[in-house]
Amino acid sequence: MYTKILLVGFAVAAALVALLPIGAPATTGDIELGPSCVTSECHGDVMEDRFLHGPVNLGQCEMCHVPIDDRHEFQMAEAGTELCMMCHEPEEQKDYIHGPFQSDCTQCHNPHGEDNRYFLHGGGGVDSCNVCHDDVREGRAHLHGPVAVGECLVCHTPHQSDHAGLLVQERRDLCLACHVDVEVTLENAISLHEPVVQECAGCHDPHGGDVQFFHPQEGPDLCLTCHGDFIETSMEAQYAHAAMTEGESCQNCHAPHASMQQALLGTDTKKLCLSCHSEEIHREDDRVINNVRAEIDGAEFLHGPIREDNCVACHQAHGSDVRSILNQSYPAEFYAAYEEGAYNLCFDCHDRTIIEAERTEVTGFRDGDLNLHYLHVVQEKGRTCRACHSEHASVQPNHVRTEVPFGMWMMPVEFDKTETGGTCQTGCHIPYEYDRVTPELESQ
Ligand code: HEC
Ligand code: HEC
Ligand code: HEC
Ligand code: HEC
Ligand code: HEC
Ligand code: HEC
Ligand code: HEC
Ligand code: HEC
Ligand code: HEC
Ligand code: HEC
Ligand code: HEC
Ligand code: HEC
Ligand code: HEC
Repeated sequence: MYTKILLVGFAVAAALVALLPIGAPATTGDIELGPSCVTSECHGDVMEDRFLHGPVNLGQCEMCHVPIDDRHEFQMAEAGTELCMMCHEPEEQKDYIHGPFQSDCTQCHNPHGEDNRYFLHGGGGVDSCNVCHDDVREGRAHLHGPVAVGECLVCHTPHQSDHAGLLVQERRDLCLACHVDVEVTLENAISLHEPVVQECAGCHDPHGGDVQFFHPQEGPDLCLTCHGDFIETSMEAQYAHAAMTEGESCQNCHAPHASMQQALLGTDTKKLCLSCHSEEIHREDDRVINNVRAEIDGAEFLHGPIREDNCVACHQAHGSDVRSILNQSYPAEFYAAYEEGAYNLCFDCHDRTIIEAERTEVTGFRDGDLNLHYLHVVQEKGRTCRACHSEHASVQPNHVRTEVPFGMWMMPVEFDKTETGGTCQTGCHIPYEYDRVTPELESQ
């Protein structure tokens, strides 16, 4: 990108050499010095510009061009930046100095004048920067506001700076100075994204880019540059979740900067999940994913974690090696042989003895102390929890289903709860009653 810089440096050096007596054409020494250097024949162009440099305006050419022996041969009063320092106060030196500012002011300023206020080569504005730099606006589909209008100097200083990159402020402070709304979001947030605390430029090119918001990458790739471990643990999990790649990908659920929820979530997980799961989803493999909102809205009894708006108590939002993107194992079928670990999902919160103890009083589903959970579940051909319970919500108490898929049949389940037990009527057996106080079943 600095090829232009070399060329300009060379051109300036060549111009200077041309001025020195040695390199000057032999004949100019013969020209008589007149009362003024600027006449209609001579050097008229020097004073034609709209803005003239102070000494030029006053015709004081010799302040800089000192004649040698009264001949029409000149040497510069001083070399390099010293020439300018004859009249201008030197700036106090800062940590970051723009290359040409150190070597030669005339690489940017025309010592005589120009049609712009600071006599800049190139015409002023961004064009003056482009004399040396490749145009930062070129080849980008999206340009950052101030760059688009060529306002390089709202962010950069042309001479020198206390901040890297010749910036007018520290990089992150600079961004927040204009994007006050982002700062407000950060100040009030409950969770803050670590890289946003450090730096904005990791995700936004300050000049612009080919992707909206000037991100270095699009979609989940932006996030995966740092969260690469997700590729293996989630995107390539046995049960991947389409929410990771569809629509706004990671941002379906996460705010990029900060949020009023933990883990940068856009809102509580129930609202998040229901933003998509409020209708049936027909997958490519013809499987239909239930409308969960309808399941919940139509139900009087919501399962504890759902009452607390917490869908990720059971689901792994990013994808999982367990079906239905569950956190832990849970049998898929109506029947399953009882084995250690099969119901870990439920036992994360519920005491496993309500199922595993043959005789107990810890569960409500018992006849006397005969554990009916044990009876149904802990078998070679055990009924799984889903045979009787719905996972999300139910219109019957104790999350007992009203119907359960049994092969091609949606089998009705009628449950009447009593003070001390209940009655079940299903396709599995004749109506049975159980009673915790006066056992019924063993006599039935
Ligand atoms: C503030 C210092 C300064 C003053 C005052 C000044 N010059 Fe120059 N002049 C320069 C420098 C430095 C150069 C070297 C070329 C460059 O960088 O543009 C130059 C180059 C020139 C050149 C050769 C290159 C060109 O631009 O054509 C001429 C001729 C010239 N000056 C004429 C004048 C005349 C006439 C005046 C007075 C009306 C004048 N200068 C006043 C600094 C000055
Ligand atoms: C002989 C004294 C003198 C020299 C040498 C001199 N300047 Fe100046 N310069 C002035 C004066 C006088 C002004 C007008 C001051 C003002 O308008 O506030 C001025 C104004 C400027 C301005 C415009 C400032 C503004 O605020 O509008 C720039 C830019 C500038 N000079 C750059 C240079 C550069 C670059 C050099 C060296 C190549 C240089 N000057 C050498 C006297 C000089
Ligand atoms: C890389 C290009 C560049 C170089 C090199 C450069 N300047 Fe400037 N200078 C600028 C620009 C651009 C501005 C206009 C700043 C603005 O618009 O705020 C400017 C503004 C100025 C001004 C007027 C505003 C002020 O800061 O007082 C002066 C005087 C000045 N420069 C002097 C110099 C001197 C002296 C040197 C060499 C020691 C120099 N410049 C080197 C680009 C340059
Ligand atoms: C005369 C040539 C020239 C002009 C004109 C010029 N630059 Fe530069 N710029 C350079 C050179 C040479 C470097 C690399 C050396 C250095 O780090 O300063 C550079 C580097 C930079 C850097 C990087 C500094 C860093 O520390 O990473 C920025 C930013 C920059 N220029 C901005 C600008 C802006 C803005 C303008 C227009 C106001 C401009 N330049 C005009 C020559 C120029
Ligand atoms: C919104 C602020 C902003 C604006 C406007 C802006 N820049 Fe930058 N620029 C930056 C930041 C931030 C950097 C990175 C600085 C660093 O290295 O820390 C940068 C870096 C640069 C660099 C160093 C090399 C590079 O590309 O990273 C150059 C050269 C540069 N800018 C030129 C320009 C020019 C020319 C303009 C006007 C068209 C401009 N900038 C406008 C903020 C800005
Ligand atoms: C001088 C003020 C200014 C500074 C400094 C500034 N920006 Fe901007 N930024 C703007 C303006 C103006 C827009 C265009 C606003 C719009 O389109 O709604 C913009 C737009 C953006 C956008 C795109 C917004 C959109 O809706 O398309 C992003 C992203 C952005 N800026 C990030 C940054 C970052 C990162 C920095 C620091 C390197 C920064 N800005 C520094 C003024 C600034
Ligand atoms: C981890 C990556 C990342 C970091 C770091 C980051 N952003 Fe963003 N930013 C994004 C994403 C992604 C979007 C797009 C948001 C959307 O799609 O609505 C965005 C959007 C924006 C926007 C435009 C929309 C809005 O919210 O106004 C601005 C302005 C912005 N960022 C400024 C900043 C600033 C300032 C910083 C530093 C304090 C920063 N960003 C740091 C990822 C990041
Ligand atoms: C520049 C690297 C980087 C990028 C890009 C990035 N992150 Fe992060 N992210 C981190 C770091 C560092 C942490 C904090 C350590 C951790 O939890 O891994 C983090 C943490 C998080 C957290 C947890 C926050 C918490 O409070 O628990 C979420 C969620 C997150 N990132 C989402 C995203 C999303 C979405 C994107 C894309 C828009 C993204 N990240 C892009 C580096 C990055
Ligand atoms: C469907 C919603 C959803 C999508 C899409 C999503 N996340 Fe998350 N993410 C969550 C939830 C919910 C949590 C909080 C998990 C918890 O509390 O157990 C979380 C937590 C995180 C965390 C912090 C905890 C951890 O697991 O490390 C990171 C980092 C993260 N997500 C990154 C990402 C990235 C990167 C993407 C895109 C590739 C993404 N997320 C897509 C919902 C989502
Ligand atoms: C951006 C939309 C979107 C969001 C937000 C979303 N999902 Fe999904 N989800 C889908 C789509 C599309 C499918 C069907 C395709 C598939 O299986 O991946 C799906 C499938 C599922 C499945 C069934 C997976 C299977 O293979 O049977 C579960 C379970 C699920 N989502 C739970 C959640 C949970 C929990 C949340 C909130 C943390 C959530 N979803 C947020 C779009 C979304
Ligand atoms: C107590 C654990 C638990 C909680 C909390 C939970 N789910 Fe589920 N979810 C499950 C189980 C278990 C399945 C698998 C059901 C099956 O196999 O039929 C499932 C299945 C699903 C499915 C797939 C349905 C289908 O037709 O394949 C979606 C979508 C879903 N849940 C979304 C959600 C949403 C949204 C929330 C929060 C409102 C949520 N879940 C909360 C346990 C839970
Ligand atoms: C994240 C914790 C958690 C997980 C995992 C969980 N539950 Fe629950 N469950 C609860 C809470 C909390 C309650 C409400 C207890 C209350 O209301 O007193 C509850 C209540 C129940 C009830 C109704 C109890 C009653 O007396 O009405 C049943 C039935 C139930 N869960 C079954 C299951 C099944 C089956 C699973 C496995 C698919 C499961 N739970 C997984 C937390 C959980
Ligand atoms: C054959 C039907 C059936 C099966 C299979 C079943 N349950 Fe139940 N469960 C019930 C009934 C009926 C109740 C309500 C008992 C009462 O309070 O009268 C109940 C109550 C519960 C309760 C509330 C606390 C308690 O023990 O009273 C939890 C928790 C529970 N079941 C979890 C499970 C889990 C986990 C599974 C699978 C491992 C499972 N159930 C399998 C019928 C069943």
